[in-house]
Amino acid sequence: MSKMNEQHITTGGMKMRMKIGIVGAGYVGLVSAAVFADWGHDVVCVDHDAEKIGRIRAGDLPVYEPGLADMVERNRQAGRLRFTTDLSRTAGELDLLIIAVGTPAADDGHPDLTALWNVVHSLKQCVKGDLTVAIKSTVPIGTCQAVSRFLNGHPGSRFDVVAAPEFLRQGTAIADFLSPDRVVIGCRTEAAKRKMQQLFAPLACPLLFTDWQSAEMIKYAANAFLAMKISYINTIANLCEQVGADIQQVALGIGLDRRIGPAYLQPGIGFGGSCLPKDTQAIVALGKDYGVDVSLFREVLRVNREQRGRIVQKLADRLGGVQGKTIAVLGLAFKANTNDVREAPALDIITRIVQAGGEVVAYDPAVNMESLKNDFCFTPAADAYQAVTGADAVVILTEWEEFHGLDLQQIRSLMRHPLVIDGRNLYAPHMMKQHGFHYVPVGVPEQEVAEAAATTV
Ligand SMILES: NC(=O)c1ccc[n+]([C@@H]2O[C@H](COP(=O)([O-])OP(=O)(O)OC[C@H]3O[C@@H](n4cnc5c(N)ncnc54)[C@H](O)[C@@H]3O)[C@@H](O)[C@H]2O)c1
Repeated sequence: MSKMNEQHITTGGMKMRMKIGIVGAGYVGLVSAAVFADWGHDVVCVDHDAEKIGRIRAGDLPVYEPGLADMVERNRQAGRLRFTTDLSRTAGELDLLIIAVGTPAADDGHPDLTALWNVVHSLKQCVKGDLTVAIKSTVPIGTCQAVSRFLNGHPGSRFDVVAAPEFLRQGTAIADFLSPDRVVIGCRTEAAKRKMQQLFAPLACPLLFTDWQSAEMIKYAANAFLAMKISYINTIANLCEQVGADIQQVALGIGLDRRIGPAYLQPGIGFGGSCLPKDTQAIVALGKDYGVDVSLFREVLRVNREQRGRIVQKLADRLGGVQGKTIAVLGLAFKANTNDVREAPALDIITRIVQAGGEVVAYDPAVNMESLKNDFCFTPAADAYQAVTGADAVVILTEWEEFHGLDLQQIRSLMRHPLVIDGRNLYAPHMMKQHGFHYVPVGVPEQEVAEAAATTV
């Protein structure tokens, strides 16, 4: 616990050290629990998955997130962080309960709120008294209102519901949690507002207090904007390949404009993960529900799907089809520094290669490949060098730091054919050419790749 945070927790004459319950020991729940405990609060993290809780208690975190394991362990040993499967035994003693369960997309694009409502039903049964309930899960507009109505529908208890959307990114979750651009809080009472001010006081960023609906909307609107930025830059990259421009230079030139900014302007294989796809789908579903034209976001999703297909098409064009070819895939996680493969473009791309008759050998430094190999029909490799051995082509799908440092000479010597389709633009084209690769990045015409090599060799 830092000195600044220790001071914050103990000054002001108010009760600063809170008893906090967090339901859901996933990416958001675990990170929130670890950080709040690190700030000196007394935190209990609840998950109904007994195996998960058993693993966490044994020091084996189910999620890979830089710095998280150390933070969890440090606070467990200090007695500030506990894990349990039993919500009912702790809920009654809490100052604040945070809900961080999953809200995945249902088949019709609406978020599936089953987990959230299960928690809310349990709360109603086991809490007698007053409790502030903050919803960190990403939930549709109107959810806080509905939860508040339901919880306060019987005498004896008073639940103060808060919308507390989370904006962390997997892979940099702790850093994001500790220095967010802003914290958004939707609440209805002064007491809830004071409690949230108290909770987030260690942060230097603005706290934006809004009504419930606006807080819920901010989360969806922010993610839909980021998804739109990615589909936008991928569309520009596809144009660059045809017109002879280099997307790296173009993105730099666009991003230096402060009205636009450089973030989320990296071209590639499209967005994945548990948030951008489902939250964009949710905006589309919302538009349908309310009769608002949201075709902009439908296009964002379509462009994103097609970007994956373009990788397979590039492969097939250069190999004369992938039937009977062995393709090495480097990277399965939807982004670097996470083991998460939810909606990972890599799994979709592997499926398309396999359906076209190719054989896939895959490697990822953090993903549990044994649990995926049968469903997605690939052979796991122990490292990148094993994956590329005898391959007709390599496809790079996650921007892991480890792939930057590969011995390219060795990679080249192990491959049957020197084709590299780079979905993340990890390498300098002239360097790849020097090593004898046929290198195909995103957003750079092949002629440009060849010319860059010719001018630098
Ligand atoms: N992952 C992210 O980067 C991220 C970022 C911002 C917001 N969010 C939002 O936060 C929410 C959680 O996302 P996540 O990625 O942490 O999900 P997750 O799937 O990693 O974790 C959810 C956890 O909730 C548990 N759970 C489900 N029902 C439960 C119940 N009734 N009682 C106790 N535990 C229960 C599950 O077992 C699981 O461990 C989602 O709404 C998501 O959209 C996620």
